[in-house]
Amino acid sequence: MLIRSKRSWELPESMVTDEAVFFNRRKFLTGSMATAGIGLIGAGAPTAVAEVDPSAGLYPVPNNPAYTADRAIAPESITSYYNNFYEFNSPYDFSFSKNIADEAQALPIRPWEIRIDGEVEKSFTIGIDELLSKVSLEERIYRHRCVEAWSMVVPWAGFQMSELVKLANPLSSAKFVYMETFLNPEVAPGQKTKSYPWPYREAITIEEATNELAFLVTGVYNKPMLKQYGAPLRLALPWKYGFKSIKSIVRFRFDSSEPETFWHEVAPREYGFWANVNPKVPHRRWSQATERDIGTRERFPTKLFNGYEEQVAHLYTGMESLGKTLYR
Ligand code: MTE
Repeated sequence: MLIRSKRSWELPESMVTDEAVFFNRRKFLTGSMATAGIGLIGAGAPTAVAEVDPSAGLYPVPNNPAYTADRAIAPESITSYYNNFYEFNSPYDFSFSKNIADEAQALPIRPWEIRIDGEVEKSFTIGIDELLSKVSLEERIYRHRCVEAWSMVVPWAGFQMSELVKLANPLSSAKFVYMETFLNPEVAPGQKTKSYPWPYREAITIEEATNELAFLVTGVYNKPMLKQYGAPLRLALPWKYGFKSIKSIVRFRFDSSEPETFWHEVAPREYGFWANVNPKVPHRRWSQATERDIGTRERFPTKLFNGYEEQVAHLYTGMESLGKTLYR
């Protein structure tokens, strides 16, 4: 994520990762880790070898054929080393490396309690494994488009967010769902910097949260999600830029008015509340007309709502002018 204002945390535009540089670095790291005999399993994805995820027995889950993509699924050996998870960057890493896989393994994901509160019938806290026992898991192939103009096709596993909204039993006064990531600077060194307003926070409207596409992710590649993707619970909103898809969620709060969010607070003129993918509305510093697919390394034209217009366009009819609505 790149930001505009001239402060200590500002990233120069030159920091947008050049794929050639990234893939060379990745090749080097894979080679050196393999030589050292650490952390690589299966398709080259890093994992905490000694730790077995208690939800492993729930996978594989059935694929939902209604959600598929017109591009190849990106290999796990690439996507598991290309992650935006700023909590795991060093506070001194102003290049915001995407190779945070090893650092992310420090995150304890059991016990993992999730708080549901705000404008709901009754607030409660639920452990991730109990939550998993109350929902139906399925696999969905989604396109994933970052505001930094890269994209990938990912086989997420999880459940429709509307199931969580139903469990929460919101009051009619609830208009927004606000979500928060864990706060633990001891394991997440990025949270030691005072330049960002931790914890990471995001929010969407109730109509967005109950749209069929809003998906709470618990697995990837049909097994429990590795920590760098946001284990044990993250969001996937495929029609919005990736920064809305908050990782490692510990709280869902139902609000009557629009809550402040992490990137909006950091750089309000660059990262709007709606953040719907729109090729016609450039970022203040680069075009959003095309995107580089991280899996195939090909460049594709970006589609309005990332190609999910049919499912979500109705959520935004009658709002401000199209451009403003989509980027505000
Ligand atoms: N959630 C948290 N807690 N911290 C983050 O840094 N990065 C966001 C989003 N969710 C982020 C986050 C951004 S900018 C993107 S593009 C996606 O996660 C990246 O998800 P991926 O690493 O699975 O591709």
